[in-house]
Amino acid sequence: MATEYRKAERGSRHVPPGEGSKSLWVFGELVTYKVTSVQTGGVYSLFEVATHPGGGPSPHVQHREDESFYVLEGEYEFLDDDGRIVRAGPGSLFYVPRGNLHSYKNVGERYGRALICQTPGGLHESFFEEIGEPATNRSRSPATAVLSDIGRIVEVAANYGIEIPPLRERHTGEDDAERSRRDERIEVPSHWGTGLLGSRVVDRLGEAREDVRVMSRSRRADTVWGDLLIGEGLDEAVEGVSTIMHCASSPFRKTGQVDVKGTRRLLQAASRSGVSHVVFISIVGVDRNPYYPYFRHKLDAEQVVERSGLPWTTLRATQFHEFVLKQLLELGPVALVPKEFLLQPIETGEVANRLVELALSAPAGRVPDVGGPEVRTFANLACSYQEAAGRHRRLVEVPVPGKVARAFREGAQTCPERRYGTITWEEFPHRARRRTVP
Ligand SMILES: NC(=O)c1ccc[n+]([C@@H]2O[C@H](COP(=O)([O-])OP(=O)(O)OC[C@H]3O[C@@H](n4cnc5c(N)ncnc54)[C@H](OP(=O)(O)O)[C@@H]3O)[C@@H](O)[C@H]2O)c1
Repeated sequence: MATEYRKAERGSRHVPPGEGSKSLWVFGELVTYKVTSVQTGGVYSLFEVATHPGGGPSPHVQHREDESFYVLEGEYEFLDDDGRIVRAGPGSLFYVPRGNLHSYKNVGERYGRALICQTPGGLHESFFEEIGEPATNRSRSPATAVLSDIGRIVEVAANYGIEIPPLRERHTGEDDAERSRRDERIEVPSHWGTGLLGSRVVDRLGEAREDVRVMSRSRRADTVWGDLLIGEGLDEAVEGVSTIMHCASSPFRKTGQVDVKGTRRLLQAASRSGVSHVVFISIVGVDRNPYYPYFRHKLDAEQVVERSGLPWTTLRATQFHEFVLKQLLELGPVALVPKEFLLQPIETGEVANRLVELALSAPAGRVPDVGGPEVRTFANLACSYQEAAGRHRRLVEVPVPGKVARAFREGAQTCPERRYGTITWEEFPHRARRRTVP
């Protein structure tokens, strides 16, 4: 019986695109098992990883496995043991013998895909199973690694011969700021699946409705391809859809073309297909601080929604906890923080709850804003984060000139009268994992 089993496991097998024997979310990357160690008698394991922009593991050393990375799609950077960073596009291979420090990062603007092969097989399979989460829905990444998990991850990794060295022991050739950023990458809640907010919305909506369709540029299973920048795939994406929840945005690149023109194209497609409700997410105070280009684009996008001729609902929210955390992680070793900037961070899941509630109700136009439970300065949030994370980086408050900064100081991005969220900044690392239906 045992021999027959092994034969069956080790027979030839075709694995169609996008498939594998198992898929897990590991630190926000979708890992699909293509060939397992059972199939190869332990000789090797082969995985496909889909990496979100900016994603990739913290630098680490595998003491028991050799590893090869073959880039299928996107742009990656690989860090080698001498601290060199190598850029690698589709068709590039990066080989790491055991004992060598290495890491990779998706430096492109879209999802990247790579094949990863390890020999001997099995160790990473077990590691991923211990720390990953089953990808029951491959289009959304759960919030996985939070600050308190780091110690456990390092411990679990060590059981499989994977060493995640503390920062000071590394010889990466990077400067302090870059090291610090790499070190902290693991601490970012892994939410960049199909968008921080979008993935939470899909979670919640999926519990209320079965017929949810997710549009994405990633070409991942369970999503419909569509790109607001080039305007392609939109008719197909909205065909037969009754309500659109528009959570797509490109804050740092071609914002006007994606957020404003892209929204117009999307809603033109929606009009053609008879969509009956568009729910749009915007930002508190975009009209009070239009000097900041992204906010101005959001304001323009709001107007595109209002003038689309379609029934609409627009909700404005304050900055999400994860967004604030991301800004903090990008600060250098001496953190210069803007003086007296007022924020009112809110838990993304709570915004998703409200957005889903609105999507399941009749179109309501501009609805009251939602903000987090507390209005605090950026410096105050930074101090509290440092304390929780046990960091001793020097924080220096810097007065910032100009209209944008003045608006932030005057609280343009807050709505103290609309404290909708209940999860505080200090609670967020622990409670961001919870997913409850409103
Ligand atoms: N972050 C905050 O603090 C905050 C606060 C208030 C309001 N908001 C608003 O909430 C919305 C979501 O923000 P977020 O932080 O969740 O953003 P995010 O994590 O950066 O996600 C952006 C989303 O936009 C999609 N996207 C980007 N370019 C696209 C394109 N050319 N075509 C189609 N889809 C595209 C991405 O999908 P794929 O990569 O899968 O294609 C992704 O799902 C935005 O409208 C933002 O203004 C954010």
